[in-house]
Amino acid sequence: MSTPKPVRRVSAPQIQNRKGKEPIVSLTAYYAHTAAIVDKHVDFILVGDSLGMVIHGMESTLGVSLDLMITHGISVVRGTEHALIVVDLPFGSYEESPEVAFRNAARVMRETGCGAVKLEGGQRMADTIRFLTERGIPVMAHIGLTPQSSAVMGGFKTQGRDKDEWAAHEADATAVAQAGAFAVVLEGMVEPLAAKITKQINIPTIGIGASVECDGQILVLEDMLGFNSSPPKFVKVYGDLGNAMEQAIKNYSEDVKSRAFPGEDNIYS
Ligand code: KIV
Repeated sequence: MSTPKPVRRVSAPQIQNRKGKEPIVSLTAYYAHTAAIVDKHVDFILVGDSLGMVIHGMESTLGVSLDLMITHGISVVRGTEHALIVVDLPFGSYEESPEVAFRNAARVMRETGCGAVKLEGGQRMADTIRFLTERGIPVMAHIGLTPQSSAVMGGFKTQGRDKDEWAAHEADATAVAQAGAFAVVLEGMVEPLAAKITKQINIPTIGIGASVECDGQILVLEDMLGFNSSPPKFVKVYGDLGNAMEQAIKNYSEDVKSRAFPGEDNIYS
């Protein structure tokens, strides 16, 4: 009888230890097959609640359920063997109390096999982050532009354009670091503020639209591959897969219609 191969994944403490060292590389992924490709080149993969908008056609991330996150989390864990897998806690699954957050985060960890969870919010979530980390759940925080609260923030706006806002963001960063988060996503933040926060706290900052000054970067996979016809302004698009996919489907359709497909070998045998 063979024994299962031990899986040696990147851990949350290893990500934390990269502070000020080699930049941390990360991307989102929602499926086993894409995650398997991403896995070869990144330190961590985020199963982000952006999946609600990117692959389920929702208008915001607010409609994403815990069950949906777990379904995609399982798929991504199955497809990977190297990267740390971080699963987003969706809107409504953690804000009520540290106890509710623990129950749901524990369910995500247990059912998906992921290595950490991410939640949005700074000072207001510090007690919850402390509660989870003290009970064995590694937490990645997310501050700056927090899409789950975009309704109260007045939309998707870059944070810190007005210097009067800086103190609150700095206090958020300090609060999540002191509460035990192993890293923090800075989303949609002006460069000098992201640079200041990165210098001030002792955990890695992971930027998305928050400049090169962060300790690492994350992008939504479909945005950087060219599946999104109007990606956010800050996204560098590295591929043209949307058009390549359309061309392939068009070629297939033409082959079928002209009976160029199936060919002689095109039978199950
Ligand atoms: O849900 C998500 O994909 C995210 C990233 C944009 C950081 O939170």
